[in-house]
Amino acid sequence: MAANDLPLHEQRVTPDLIRSKKSRQRITFVTAYDFSTAKLADEARFDMVLVGDTLAEVVLGHETTLPVTFEAMLHHTCAARRAIRRTLLVADLPYGAYHASEEDALRFAVRFVKEGGAQAVKLEGGRKRVHLIRRMLDAEIPVMGHIGLTPQSVDRMGWYKVQGRLGADIETLLQDAIALDKAGVFAMVLESIPREVSKVISEEVSAPTLGIGAGPDCDGQVLVLNDILGLTFKRPAKFVRQYMCGASDIGSALTQFKADIESGAYPTDTESYHLPSELRLRLPEILERIRGAGNN
Ligand code: KIV
Repeated sequence: MAANDLPLHEQRVTPDLIRSKKSRQRITFVTAYDFSTAKLADEARFDMVLVGDTLAEVVLGHETTLPVTFEAMLHHTCAARRAIRRTLLVADLPYGAYHASEEDALRFAVRFVKEGGAQAVKLEGGRKRVHLIRRMLDAEIPVMGHIGLTPQSVDRMGWYKVQGRLGADIETLLQDAIALDKAGVFAMVLESIPREVSKVISEEVSAPTLGIGAGPDCDGQVLVLNDILGLTFKRPAKFVRQYMCGASDIGSALTQFKADIESGAYPTDTESYHLPSELRLRLPEILERIRGAGNN
C-alpha cells in the first residue's frame, strides 16, 4: 500500500501535527538509514524518522559527519522513503550542502523532496541560518533546526563537547533558539546541552524541541538508531540508552553461521530444494546424455 493509500485514521504525520504535540504529547524521533530500519521505525509508529548525516559515521565508517556527500544522503533517503507509510521523513542536509550558497542549498533541499520523497529537511545552526530557512519555507519545504552540539562544526568546537555550560554560551543558545523559532522551523533539535538550559529553551519557543543529550524536559527525544541497537564500536555518550546488544548478537550469529558452514551443519536437507521423484530418477540418464554429447 502506498503512503497516500493509508486509511483516514492512519494519515501521514505532518509538520503541523508535530507542532500540535508541543507540551501535550512527547514526540518520538529516531534515525534510520535504509529500507529495513525505516520500515521498522514506521511500524513502531515513531512520529518522525531522520535520515541523519550520522550515516557518515555509523554506516559509512567515517570519523565525523563531514565527509558524507549529498548524493549518498539522497540515496539513503530514497531507501527510507520506499519503506515509510505514515511516519514523517526528514532528510539531513550534509556539510557543504548549505554552506557555499543559498541557491545551492535550495536546490539540494528541493532534490531531497522531489527525488528523495523527504517531507522536511534539517540543517544545523542558529541565527546565521534564518535567511536560508525563510527561503526554504517560501519554497514550501518544512525545516527542522539543530542547535547546541552541531557535529558539522566539529573543527570549530575542537571535538564533540557539551555546549551551553557558560553564561555567554547559554545566551547564544537562547538567541539562536528564538531566532529559529521566529524564522518558522516546525521543530528544533537540541543536542548535548545541560538539562536546565534545554528546559528554558523549550518553555521559551513555540516550536517543539527534540532533545538528544538535552534532558527530559524537551518536547520529544531523538537518538541515533545504531546507538540504541548497540551497533556501534565506540564508547557511547552518557545520554545513550542501549536497548539491545546488536554488535555482540550479530557477531555471535556470524560466528555460528561460519561454524555451521565449516562443519557442514548448514544447510540441511530440509533447507534444500528438491526435484520431483520422477525427474530425480531420470538424473543419471540426463547426465549420460550430456557426457555422450561431450564425447562427439
Ligand atoms: O544526523 C543525525 O543523526 C542527527 C541526530 C543526532 C539528531 O542529526
